[in-house]
Amino acid sequence: MAMTQHDRLLIIDFGSQVTQLIARRLRELNVYCEIHPYQNVTDAFLADFAPKAVIFSGGPASVLDADSPRPPESVFQMGVPILGICYGQQVMMQMLGGRVERGHGTAEFGRAYVTPSEDRIDLLTGWFLEGREQVWMSHGDHVSEIAPGFQVYGTSPNAPFAITADLSRNFFAVQFHPEVHHTPNGKTLYENFVRLAGFTGDWTMGAYRDEAIKKIREQVGDKQVICGLSGGVDSSVTAVLLHEAIGDQLTCVFVDHGLLRLNEADEVVTMFRDHYNIKLIHADESDLFIGALEGGSDPEVKRKTIGKLFIDVFQREANKIEGAEFLAQGTLYPDVIESVSFSGGPSVTIKSHHNVGGLPEKMGLKLVEPLRELFKDEVRALGHELGLPASFIGRHPFPGPGLAIRCPGEITREKLEILRKADAVYIDQIRKHGLYDEIWQAFVAILPVRTVGVMGDGRTYDYACALRAVTSVDGMTADYYPFSHEFLGETATRIINEVQGINRVTYDITSKPPGTIEWE
Ligand code: XMP
Repeated sequence: MAMTQHDRLLIIDFGSQVTQLIARRLRELNVYCEIHPYQNVTDAFLADFAPKAVIFSGGPASVLDADSPRPPESVFQMGVPILGICYGQQVMMQMLGGRVERGHGTAEFGRAYVTPSEDRIDLLTGWFLEGREQVWMSHGDHVSEIAPGFQVYGTSPNAPFAITADLSRNFFAVQFHPEVHHTPNGKTLYENFVRLAGFTGDWTMGAYRDEAIKKIREQVGDKQVICGLSGGVDSSVTAVLLHEAIGDQLTCVFVDHGLLRLNEADEVVTMFRDHYNIKLIHADESDLFIGALEGGSDPEVKRKTIGKLFIDVFQREANKIEGAEFLAQGTLYPDVIESVSFSGGPSVTIKSHHNVGGLPEKMGLKLVEPLRELFKDEVRALGHELGLPASFIGRHPFPGPGLAIRCPGEITREKLEILRKADAVYIDQIRKHGLYDEIWQAFVAILPVRTVGVMGDGRTYDYACALRAVTSVDGMTADYYPFSHEFLGETATRIINEVQGINRVTYDITSKPPGTIEWE
């Protein structure tokens, strides 16, 4: 459970696809909250967690089915405000004495409009200013009779009980999803809920930084800590935070696999060693990695080769650090939220991800994970608190296996060199046009074909490349970025003129799914 001493809100997860969005909306309001699957929320858990308010998420089950997910009865006796959303609304009504019925023509999916009742309640301050509110509905079953003590405060054409509340107990139940983008004023509803629950908005990154530093010092004492630094936002923020907490007891290991972008290795070394004065081992092992990759072209073999060598090199370097007892990792909150699974079936491996998750046990190290409670945007805010440059904090994600998975087919040093240069021109174009922050991730892939071209009076026979740029929220789904034709044309011209070895540029317009973001 959390290390935090802040007022806490508990989100009981019934398996909705959008439960994480509830947490994000609340964190944006400086409210500390945690998501826990309903199976884990027992009486003892509730007593220990001591939430100041509780939210029941939506979920795919039907309260009318036997053994449908429920919170413990005791949650209603805690005397704290509760907000039930969609499935959470239905489970609340059913447990408190109302009735829920199957859809039969009253199912509602998508945009709907809620209109208010005569009585206005605090939960709805700032709502209905224009008479009605757009909300997002997604329900099959519906409440047909509200529980004793509840009253209706908003209705939609298909949901006569769209907003209900028992004001004497501060229990609120809504049929729609206020956390999603398509309920444009949904955040106001959460804001009102946490205000009436008495939250003071004490969850800020400034306060978190001080607390985290204190906790790291308590955990580590006078022992040595190793931190794997990749130059990505998570490992960088972890390193700088640890350095503030324990100074020279921290040694960072930067495994340079030779698959980084143009000047990236130098930038990492300059920033952390020279600017922050962090003890840094730069293991320049490009020959080892590229030597092992040369000749092969299977994407999974590439990933596994890099993953294995990475661990070998990391272990070798870490073993040189005397007395190390801890390994610091930039694990984030989305990695630790246990999800509610209803299918139970094994999921297919699309790509073996590069990670060093098994390292601490293998090396007999204890873990320090100071970002475990944070979402990505909070890590960025913390990075800002720690003085990391904005250009660094806002960088697009970069995969562990690096340029290897942007070089489909055989990897050669020549192709990597060309790819680096083309990528640098492309990113420069994106920055110059002020598009960098609108795009979730952008990069060039060098294709394993040479094509014929004509430059000046001569024939060329060079590589083709593909530009990729996507918008996304979490990398799970993505859409290609709609560049203007002018931008694409100008970028193609610049790459062909400035990068020797490329004579053809294409733009990848595949979304995910069915494509993936990276080419391998
Ligand atoms: P895909 O290609 O699976 O990528 O759509 C989704 C996101 O994950 C990144 N990615 C990785 N990140 N290790 C990482 O740390 C990996 O092995 C890896 N493979 C893909 C990718 O860059 C995108 O942001």
